[in-house]
Amino acid sequence: MPDYVGAVDQGTTSTRFMIFDHGGREIARHQLEHEQILPRPGWVEHDAIEIWERTRSVIATALNKAGLTAGDLAALGITNQRETTVVWNRRTGRPYSNAIVWQDTRTDRIASALERDGKGDVIRRKAGLPPATYFSGGKLQWILENVDGVREDAEKGDALFGTTDSWLIWNLTGGPDGGVHVTDPTNASRTMLMDLETLDWDDELLSFFGVPRKMLPRIRPSSNPGGFGTTRADGPLGGEVALTGVLGDQQAATVGQVCFRPGEAKNTYGTGNFLLLNTGHELVRSQHGLLTTLCYQFGDEKPVYALEGSIAVTGSAVQWLRDQLGIISGAAQSESLARQVEDNGGAYFVPAFSGLFAPYWRSDARGAIVGLTRATTNAHIARATLEAICYQTRDVVEAMQNDSGVTLDVLRVDGGVTANELCMQLQADILGVPVSKPVVAETTALGAAYAAGLAVGFWGSTDELEQNWNEDKRWAPSWSGAQRAEGYAGWQKAVGRTLDWVE
Ligand code: G3P
Repeated sequence: MPDYVGAVDQGTTSTRFMIFDHGGREIARHQLEHEQILPRPGWVEHDAIEIWERTRSVIATALNKAGLTAGDLAALGITNQRETTVVWNRRTGRPYSNAIVWQDTRTDRIASALERDGKGDVIRRKAGLPPATYFSGGKLQWILENVDGVREDAEKGDALFGTTDSWLIWNLTGGPDGGVHVTDPTNASRTMLMDLETLDWDDELLSFFGVPRKMLPRIRPSSNPGGFGTTRADGPLGGEVALTGVLGDQQAATVGQVCFRPGEAKNTYGTGNFLLLNTGHELVRSQHGLLTTLCYQFGDEKPVYALEGSIAVTGSAVQWLRDQLGIISGAAQSESLARQVEDNGGAYFVPAFSGLFAPYWRSDARGAIVGLTRATTNAHIARATLEAICYQTRDVVEAMQNDSGVTLDVLRVDGGVTANELCMQLQADILGVPVSKPVVAETTALGAAYAAGLAVGFWGSTDELEQNWNEDKRWAPSWSGAQRAEGYAGWQKAVGRTLDWVE
């Protein structure tokens, strides 16, 4: 058996390839960003061809850096930004349009019509999701209705739909020349088209969006030895490697954080924040604005479900400080700037740039900064931005505790923003529970590698993976109860103002 497992992590802003050894240690990585295309307010697109080119390049470069070849990899895993919708032609391999990204709100009318027509409850019951712009179903409907030729080609079976996992697998396994058109149930559970109990596309849900079944990928277990095909020798790996693990990125991070038991949770801080709580084989229906989603399905074992609190804008609010306001030159500077002040000076920032996701689900919400005075400085805005990341997390933790009855005694964290020490301290202060970060903070790619490696026996069991998890750092709460309550009340008032704005 070869010594390593590789994983592609195709994220919202970049694509990376990582190689891990048996201890879950990183051997090599390479990462490249791709363009964020913003054609109109509320629209966010990616060029799927650019994403495929970046993927080829990061795979080849990381292998080269490590001095490894395809023969050194026991298996390959893929993890991806979820919901982002690509439609391409199976004969030419060309996408019909740019991919519509999960943050894009152009389908708000589709989402509100579903609710108005009484279909919302069916979607909630079958798919575990509230009708929202976030998920793929409405994006696919939009492409079918607005991009020339797609509907006709879809009826003929020539137009294929996929999230970026399917798009990359199809290309890695041959493209127009025999590419395998598949996905896994964690990705499929984000479309509003899959029934959470049968783990199959559902005809009634497909009819709500006018989606022909022919254009959908086959759904195969997240970890399985034969279901996702084999990479082509003339592709970026330069050899044949079995593709045996596929997970949406937030589910992958849950696996990478070894949250295999019911009640275990992780919070990933990326472009957005995504808190997932493993609920075991039980499908828990949220009464408090959380999503019911697939956590993973390994081989022929029973599927494991999760409750998810999705927050659209966290790390991307820090990017906004850099790119749109120009008050910092890089993400790390948000920490030094925010440290110049003791507190937020009464300012709260609600970064509802894609509406508000969990637990509010208000596509029409727009961002606001409130509580400004003449004394407010860039430093207060930077601090309010970091606090917004943490207060939004508190909102979903409250919802999760109310839904599940599970009280968090520690929050396991990962993702880029966890490098921001002040933000992690604020998170512990605002939640009132310790925050713990593992040594391998790249849990997303690691989780995909775990799914792939488990399928081929590179790792024998999930128990073995638990041995690989080690704590790197822990932040303990330091605020008094009164300070915490006062801060949270201010946040809730600010969210209220944001919602009033659009009413
Ligand atoms: O649901 C969206 C999520 O999968 C995106 O994750 O890390 O690419 O921002 P990320």
